[in-house]
Amino acid sequence: MRSNLKTVRPLGLALALIIPFAIFFYLYAEDPQTLLSPKTELLHSEAIVIQTSPTGAVPPQPLPDNNKPLFTEEIYRVPDKVWHSAKFDNLTENQRGWIGSWTKTNPYCRQELLTDRSAQAFVRAYFHETRPDIVELYEALPIAILRADLLRYLIVLAEGGVWGDLDVTCEKDVAEWVPPEYRNRTIDMIVGLEFDMPWRGPGKPIASQFCNWVFVGRKSSRNLQVVVDAVVAKLKQIAHENNVTISGLTLEMLSDVVDVTGPKMMTIAILDSLGQLLNRTVDDRDFAGIKQPKLVGDVLIMPGNSFAANQNNHPTDQGDILVNHHYEGSWKKEDAEAKERKKQKQHAAPTPK
Ligand SMILES: *[C@@H]1O[C@H](CO)[C@@H](O)[C@H](O)[C@H]1NC(C)=O
Ligand SMILES: *[C@@H]1O[C@H](CO)[C@@H](O)[C@H](O)[C@H]1NC(C)=O
Ligand SMILES: *[C@@H]1O[C@H](CO)[C@@H](O)[C@H](O)[C@H]1NC(C)=O
Ligand SMILES: *[C@@H]1O[C@H](CO)[C@@H](O)[C@H](O)[C@H]1NC(C)=O
Repeated sequence: MRSNLKTVRPLGLALALIIPFAIFFYLYAEDPQTLLSPKTELLHSEAIVIQTSPTGAVPPQPLPDNNKPLFTEEIYRVPDKVWHSAKFDNLTENQRGWIGSWTKTNPYCRQELLTDRSAQAFVRAYFHETRPDIVELYEALPIAILRADLLRYLIVLAEGGVWGDLDVTCEKDVAEWVPPEYRNRTIDMIVGLEFDMPWRGPGKPIASQFCNWVFVGRKSSRNLQVVVDAVVAKLKQIAHENNVTISGLTLEMLSDVVDVTGPKMMTIAILDSLGQLLNRTVDDRDFAGIKQPKLVGDVLIMPGNSFAANQNNHPTDQGDILVNHHYEGSWKKEDAEAKERKKQKQHAAPTPK
């Protein structure tokens, strides 16, 4: 193995030098614009890019006649931006590879990483006028995982786009996530099933869960507003019940992160919001076991295989895998430790305060 590598290396080096030159000259001869102006390339990808370009840098022009679906302003307004956040901007090698998959799969896409500091500035800038209570709560919230959950909803609510955790890779062009029959419909959010479970019966809690490691929302999303309000109300309620202010919250006070700010909370809030829109109960029966994306009200629900193939045992009859989740959640350790402390406390004799 080792000696093979050695003999191959000079050839590899030569190829490494020759191939880029060959490609350069090929492309340059073919179409000088391709290399000189990255913008022309956008015209060959989805129309969605052209109409959502916020700066107007790419002038609207008729598309070349390829067989790609044509999106108009009326419909399917999935924005051309993917959002991530991290404590600092020094990502690990793995994380850089994972988030790099988004621009590889969606070359037209813009991408933004918010750090703890820029996220704080972002939340302040977008919400200080309309919702100072959210800014106050976000800044006071002492638990990183809760802030991280709330932040993703706030970012997409403020600007629209795709949320992607740092350990999620995109496997298929976002412009193709929406099936053709829904491309002329109003889509406020796209969510995917993490747990795909049958209805438990009247009055029982929702069995299924949408994941929040990836979701799509449009700017000022009706559903995300409901999610944010539900998260804010829940946090205030927990603080109140524990006689503390928001800054006094600890992980031990929470039943489960998932239920307070996480995916379960998001799922329940979205179903409530759909219930308001449709004036009926929306529950597992609307989407359990779906084989293809289903539009319920204004939320496009993706089958289990789309965003959470691993959790759903890789069903082969539910279309393509759209994203992969590589599980690198650092908060899970923190949460598990808190649960352990809580258990120990409950088992210990009650101590007078
Ligand atoms: C990133 O930087 C912070 C502080 O500057 C440091 O504490 C942390 O260990 C760094 N992380 C990595 C993965 O290098
Ligand atoms: C969307 O297109 C289908 C046919 O492709 C049509 O039947 C339907 O009425 C359209 N819906 C809207 C809201 O334009
Ligand atoms: C909060 O305060 C009230 C009254 O002051 C008390 O009855 C209650 O037990 C306190 N709750 C907790 C969790 O400390
Ligand atoms: C909502 O549904 C109830 C019955 O389920 C009906 O009485 C009510 O008028 C409906 N409201 C609207 C706004 O359609």
